[in-house]
Amino acid sequence: MLRKRWACDMGFNVGTLLKDYDVGKLSIATLASHSALQIVHGAKLEGFKTTLIAKRDRLPFYRGFNHLVDEYVVVDEWSDICSQDVVRKLKELNSVIVPHGSYVEYVGIECAENIPIPIFGLRTLFKVEANQKLKMELLSKAGIPIPKTYSLDEAIDKLVIVKLAGAKGGKDYFIAKDKEVITYKLSKLVEQGTIRNFNEALIQEYVLGVTAYYHYFYSPTLNRLEILGADIRYESDIDGLKRLPPNTYLEVGAEPTFTVVGNIPLVLRESLLPKILDYGEKFVKTTKEELPPGVIGPFCLESIITKDAEIIVFEFSGRIVAGTNLYINGSPYSYLYWNEPMSVGRRIAREIKTAIDKGMLEKVLT
Ligand SMILES: Nc1ncnc2c1ncn2[C@@H]1O[C@H](COP(=O)(O)OP(=O)(O)O)[C@@H](O)[C@H]1O
Ligand SMILES: [Mg+2]
Repeated sequence: MLRKRWACDMGFNVGTLLKDYDVGKLSIATLASHSALQIVHGAKLEGFKTTLIAKRDRLPFYRGFNHLVDEYVVVDEWSDICSQDVVRKLKELNSVIVPHGSYVEYVGIECAENIPIPIFGLRTLFKVEANQKLKMELLSKAGIPIPKTYSLDEAIDKLVIVKLAGAKGGKDYFIAKDKEVITYKLSKLVEQGTIRNFNEALIQEYVLGVTAYYHYFYSPTLNRLEILGADIRYESDIDGLKRLPPNTYLEVGAEPTFTVVGNIPLVLRESLLPKILDYGEKFVKTTKEELPPGVIGPFCLESIITKDAEIIVFEFSGRIVAGTNLYINGSPYSYLYWNEPMSVGRRIAREIKTAIDKGMLEKVLT
């Protein structure tokens, strides 16, 4: 079970963390990056105080949004957020941390999951997300269709994508067809110190089709799963290769890479939505079983939709993804649920507010 393997003894639970808090004065805190502006914007709309933990060099940019920020906590390094000084300051401000897509990457897994500040979301999911293999195991347990995974001991009979650990926006991933090429490239990455050994890489079937990323929100207070939006990652240079005549990139020796440069909005065929909701529900159910209390708030399933309308999920994110920044004023889907402009940032704040009203705060924080 994932739960047994990843049980982490943090020596506290959220109830003890909240004991010293004035719940009427919560401040929504996040790292000044990724989707921070959306998060503080949403928090303000719902009447919360806000805190941005900002690196000194980014401060001038965020100061331009002073009307959305009550407090800045300035750090020199992201990992400083686990220092005693910063933790004390965050506690004084009655902070709840909203972890976004860059949170674990910036502060490191140890700090991310052990920080003694309430987190909106499921802490124990961070470690699963940081490990490509466990990530796929969780999806597979949920019964969500995933690409085949290969080991170097077996025959590789299809085009594969080789992935490294951590959310680095596809950095150093490569596509290959031959085992020799994979072994050669992985050896280079070990030599460069990018990975320690071959086991850190995930060798996954490369699925043909188009990419589609779904933004879900699971609400413990309403016991409801919402689809709040969808996007396409715009990735260089894989998305640019189609601008070349077919096969020319092979001639010039270009190797497709997957560096994210932005996000493009997507509205899906309505007939695909029931399946997409079903995948999301499977994910919620499995995280409840494997990593109780289960996923809380925003998560994303990342997929390829094939020409036969099969949806194959190649990874997930257990936090708010940057593609939600497209819908700061709500998406075509969030409008249907809420009939008011509802970004994911605002939805997070609404959930915390509802939890306070219903006396369920401990159900949305870990
Ligand atoms: N199995 C796959 N088949 C086809 N393309 C894939 C597959 N897995 C990933 N990709 C492409 O590679 C990109 C980065 O992969 P992903 O697993 O999402 O890594 P990251 O953790 O960097 O987001 C995806 O956005 C997608 O374009
Ligand atoms: Mg991804």
